[in-house]
Amino acid sequence: MSIQVPRGTQDILPGEVEKWQYIEEVAKDICKTYQYKEIRTPIFESSELFMRGVGDTTDIVQKEMYVFEDRGGRSLALRPEGTAPVVRSFVQNKMFGDPNQPVKLFYTGPMFRYERPQAGRYRQFVQFGVEALGSEDPAIDAEVISLAMQVYQKLGLKNLKLIINSLGDTESRTNHREALINHFKPRIDEFCSDCQNRLEKNPLRILDCKKDRDHELMSSAPSILDYLNDESRIYFEKVQKYLQAMDIEFVVDPTLVRGLDYYNHTAFEIMSNAEGFGAITTLCGGGRYNGLVEMIGGPATPGIGFAFSIERLLAALEAERIALPIEEALDCYFVSLGEEAKDHTVKILHELRNAGFTAERDYLDRKLKAQFKAADRHHAKFVAVLGDEELKNNKINIKNMQSGEQEEVALPEFISYLEKHIRLGGH
Ligand code: HAM
Repeated sequence: MSIQVPRGTQDILPGEVEKWQYIEEVAKDICKTYQYKEIRTPIFESSELFMRGVGDTTDIVQKEMYVFEDRGGRSLALRPEGTAPVVRSFVQNKMFGDPNQPVKLFYTGPMFRYERPQAGRYRQFVQFGVEALGSEDPAIDAEVISLAMQVYQKLGLKNLKLIINSLGDTESRTNHREALINHFKPRIDEFCSDCQNRLEKNPLRILDCKKDRDHELMSSAPSILDYLNDESRIYFEKVQKYLQAMDIEFVVDPTLVRGLDYYNHTAFEIMSNAEGFGAITTLCGGGRYNGLVEMIGGPATPGIGFAFSIERLLAALEAERIALPIEEALDCYFVSLGEEAKDHTVKILHELRNAGFTAERDYLDRKLKAQFKAADRHHAKFVAVLGDEELKNNKINIKNMQSGEQEEVALPEFISYLEKHIRLGGH
């Protein structure tokens, strides 16, 4: 059998790739209005970064990382997510010393997780994410959430549900952790081996277990919201107040536990409610990670961010039957007949493209009719016909494909003719 793409990966072909470009443009434009600047980090990093950053009790680190040794014996990993690499770069490049604080960054690029492929779940997927480092103002939590919501809304999505939770600060979490251990310990042997391992290491992760989610102890588990100390509670209330001030609807869900270890205080997810959307409804996930910068070797610096994958965003657009306004029309298709005219086409086409028009021509020596068909397939606005006869008279024939009108134009005026009719929309 011929070689196929690896399981869980896909080719993004012309016709489809324009949607990706459009989404990335919209997201980048919104980042500009919020003043987030692009950062690009390597696709592979030292494996240790993710073990420390994402956490070694997480599924990502335990089961899903593509880890390999390079020829120099270093243990490297294809990045499973973008937050730990951005934080590594923040520390390495001493961005904490930048006078502009908080440091607001965005990124887009492929991430890799060895997961069981299914609809909405790939082994290589493209995340768009933002990270704001250096501020512990609840207004930045609300800003980050509003940025994510704005991307989705700009693209036309309507069936969205924003859920938020607070995981509290260290003190709140320690108290909650103890309550969780006391709750699960007496009957932990009824849980899966992963949960048994998590009990002492990270009991919060038990709440996120897919195998045991229907166990009766799950719904009666102590809620983090009952363990928030005053500071954490006030912080969470402020985040909610700011979301309300921006008219962003949300639901507080105390069972929202994110799959990565670095979170505290605000955690959030945006889900799709669209009918017919697959089983995996989370479009976007994020939260606050005060402590991560320190864990990766920098000075204590608070941070918050989110990421979403373009794959799931496209699935949500499809479920809501939203067509993106992608312009595919070609300004001018060049039909040439005869040897001399063909030679001359090289020069005119070059001038046309230099002037910024989208232009295409025939390279297969097709007949007149077939060249016109090709122009149709390209959705050409104008077709320019140059034959040896026209060339002799220094003229070119131009057909407006929408109106069907044809005109003969002096060759030296060809570009200004198109300028008038395409750029200025005149007739
Ligand atoms: P995450 O929840 O692991 O968080 O992933 C964020 C988003 O990436 C998901 O909501 C989903 O859209 C997408 N995603 C994850 N796995 C896959 C997959 N296998 N196939 C397709 N899409 C996927 C993070 O990665 C954190 N770094 C987010 C963050 C940024 N938190 C703070 N800052």
